[in-house]
Amino acid sequence: MSLKKILGIESSCDDSSVAIVNSNYKVESMFSTSQIKEHSVFKGVVPEIASRTHTKDLLTLVDLCLKQTKYLISDIDGIAVTSKPGLVGSLMVGTVTAKTLALVNDIPFLGVNHLEGHMLSPFLQDCTGNDKQLLSFPFLALIVSGGHSHIYCVKSLTDYKLIGKTLDDAAGEALDKFAQILGLGFPGGAELDKLAKNVESCNFKFPRPLSKEKSANLSFSGLKAAGSRLVLKLDKTELVKNKPYLAASYQKAVVDTLIQKLKIAQQETNLKHIVVSGGVSANSLLRSELKQWCKNKNLKLSIPAIKYCTDNAAMIALVGYLKMNENLFSNQYLSPVST
Ligand code: KG4
Ligand code: ZN
Repeated sequence: MSLKKILGIESSCDDSSVAIVNSNYKVESMFSTSQIKEHSVFKGVVPEIASRTHTKDLLTLVDLCLKQTKYLISDIDGIAVTSKPGLVGSLMVGTVTAKTLALVNDIPFLGVNHLEGHMLSPFLQDCTGNDKQLLSFPFLALIVSGGHSHIYCVKSLTDYKLIGKTLDDAAGEALDKFAQILGLGFPGGAELDKLAKNVESCNFKFPRPLSKEKSANLSFSGLKAAGSRLVLKLDKTELVKNKPYLAASYQKAVVDTLIQKLKIAQQETNLKHIVVSGGVSANSLLRSELKQWCKNKNLKLSIPAIKYCTDNAAMIALVGYLKMNENLFSNQYLSPVST
């Protein structure tokens, strides 16, 4: 199959996103709406609100992408949609929208795993000419987001081996929880990052979970608990005065833990190409420490441009393009409720 333009749809959680990606992995158009405002009142994502908002937004985003590129829906060669994992209602809205568009217009359709989308997001190109990172296998992938902290050995588009994963919470969740305790917005990872910037001393002590274990598994629940215990001990004045130091110390504990486990996985697999993606890969400390480590060890590092770190449809379209082109339609009928 030789496809040229793929329309991607992402609605697995609280971002509605549609994109058109071409055969050069280039994002010709991407429009997204964030539901942060709707959910932040509840300090977390409310599934029912998320699905209703996707229902309202997705087709408008499809229209915007077609208008911007001046394509007709009949010009689209394939439609890819996140089919799992995620909130069932939200996934349903995306998959039903994509399947309907595909069936009515007789376009090939593919369900894409959200994690595969994150994994390949560093290789997207945009019209601003972000750094070109060439896709090559094998690589060691760390996917680090609000729901996942997983390390895979990736040998091809269809050959993944799990090397390590969080035994409890994800890194993004641990960052969001601590940001919430500090009274920052939701989700708080990016705000914590901003607050910690330019802070030299990480003078608060936080644990590096599972650091004595030789496995590449991760854990963040103990760190989360340590964070809330420490903040509870501080009075209001101390808390206000120390917020940037708390943010920097906690963020450092998360980043140290991720890098330590990635190092273990790298030694175990001896892979020389490191791919780090997912919302937390936007973190400035994680990015700079990864660059330093890879430079020292002569490893190739691929990280997404900031706008492709968090959930987006371009990464889903890219996986769709790569798989459909190789006739890999095996999971096209995946239901959002299957595991
Ligand atoms: O990949 P993503 O958009 O959604 C999931 O699939 O979970 O990741 C969202 C996560 C949130 O936990 C958010 O706080 C975190 O990514 N995040 C960050 C930064 N930007 C987003 N964490 C640390 N530093 C950032 N700059
Ligand atoms: Zn994600």
